[in-house]
Amino acid sequence: MEIQEFGTVRQFPVGLSMETRMHSCQRLNQILADTQILYSLYKKHHWLMRGPTFYQLHLLLDKHAEEQLELVDKLAERVQTLGGVAVGDPRHVAEITVIKRPPDGVEEVPAMLSRLLEAHEMILVAAHDAAATADEKGDDGTNDLLVSDIIRTGELQAWFLAEHLVDTPLIHA
Ligand SMILES: [Fe+2]
Repeated sequence: MEIQEFGTVRQFPVGLSMETRMHSCQRLNQILADTQILYSLYKKHHWLMRGPTFYQLHLLLDKHAEEQLELVDKLAERVQTLGGVAVGDPRHVAEITVIKRPPDGVEEVPAMLSRLLEAHEMILVAAHDAAATADEKGDDGTNDLLVSDIIRTGELQAWFLAEHLVDTPLIHA
């Protein structure tokens, strides 16, 4: 038996209205689902990576995965802090996420990296928008989490990925 349904918020004395907390939880759960998928995509591509820069990318993608996993926890705990219910089960996550499912097999290296960059951009666009709304509604904690953690980390990781897609020869003849 459920004692609190997904999509609801309970009363918490944190100085924010029910409506504001409801709205923040909905936006945070979307970003939480997408971040859980981004984390899994990082692990998938950490394992499937290949090519002359395999080792470097293998390590980089794992580092990003670990950082994303920390963000997953922060997002989920923010939802709980606001009285909501964080999306947890991966099958529930799959229903909510807007990030496209990749092929089950292996793609070309640039395609795999572009896939990660696209996922980052979707999360970043959503985070910017949700941060602005949270700010308008006075939910400073959510705004801070989105700006200081989700956006800052996402932008930095996107930069590190994007540099691998620049057309620079590995070896100068
Ligand atoms: Fe590993």
